[in-house]
Amino acid sequence: MSNAVLKSAGVDQVFLSEVIAGLSNAPKALSPKWFYDQRGSQLFEQITQQPEYYPTRTEIELLASISAELGDQLSDREALIEYGSGSSRKTRLLLRALPQLQQYLPMDVSAEFLRGAADGLSKQFPKLHVRPVVGDFNSTVKLPATVQSMTRLGFFPGSTIGNLPPSAACSFLRLRREELGRGGKLLIGVDLRKPVEVLLAAYDDSAGVTAAFNRNLLLRINRELGGDFDPDRFDHQARWNDDHGRIEMHLVSRGLQRVRIDNHCFEFADGESIHSENSHKYRLGEFKLLARVSGWEVVSQWTDPQQWFAIFLLG
Ligand SMILES: C[S@@+](CC[C@H](N)C(=O)[O-])C[C@H]1O[C@@H](n2cnc3c(N)ncnc32)[C@H](O)[C@@H]1O
Repeated sequence: MSNAVLKSAGVDQVFLSEVIAGLSNAPKALSPKWFYDQRGSQLFEQITQQPEYYPTRTEIELLASISAELGDQLSDREALIEYGSGSSRKTRLLLRALPQLQQYLPMDVSAEFLRGAADGLSKQFPKLHVRPVVGDFNSTVKLPATVQSMTRLGFFPGSTIGNLPPSAACSFLRLRREELGRGGKLLIGVDLRKPVEVLLAAYDDSAGVTAAFNRNLLLRINRELGGDFDPDRFDHQARWNDDHGRIEMHLVSRGLQRVRIDNHCFEFADGESIHSENSHKYRLGEFKLLARVSGWEVVSQWTDPQQWFAIFLLG
């Protein structure tokens, strides 16, 4: 497809320019936010059901076990703003613990999936005003005036903060500090360090769902940007990077190949990878320090019995 055709076909120019820039870099890398079209969001939900993927069930169990405490500590909150809300599955637990909430603003880049999740939630909680926001959580969210006059709670579960490098995680936390206001609070889920074999299995499940999720990025580039990736010629790989304390996901080229996107041509050497995601695993002290330098204090913290996952209430 030519540039003119792409423009007239309503192509997301930001997606196109980031893909071109990311594949022109050495090493090649793309932002994980591009995983999440409708298909990507569905695949992520399937990942959360895999036996190897401990984060979702661990965080849900932890949230359920602290729901009475959350109810007490957050009984004055009127508006809930969730970043990267996806299916809003965990939100349901929070909404039951905080029945006084009046407004819920789920925010996500995956527009169609977000609307479906918001509709489901409106039906289940008819008294709650649900206002989905399509957008990137790396920028400020313009809150409606009614919400600005309310006591606000931000919610950022799923250890999505781990997808950001520490400097970007710090910027994210500073943005929320401004947006949620002086008395604002932020409830955040953070995945912790644990044995490497547990981590590697979680990001490379035996049913191949995470591999399909990773390859969907190539299929999305083909669908939306007219690329000609052959996803079967890229292997999914999860790697532990000990220096950075993170799991990395890669798409590794099987053999020498050339890929065209728009008017650009990219060469891949045998074994060359596209670095498609980071998932940082924090130590408790590291995250507390990050929160503090980003303008927050830790009000409460909870972990599961194995200390695999933490939930922090920041204020
Ligand atoms: C790891 S999933 C977590 C989903 C859900 N919060 C949970 O805990 O299961 C990350 C979510 O954040 C969304 N997302 C990723 N990058 C984003 C960005 N830059 N801005 C807004 N949403 C984003 C994705 O669409 C996805 O729903």
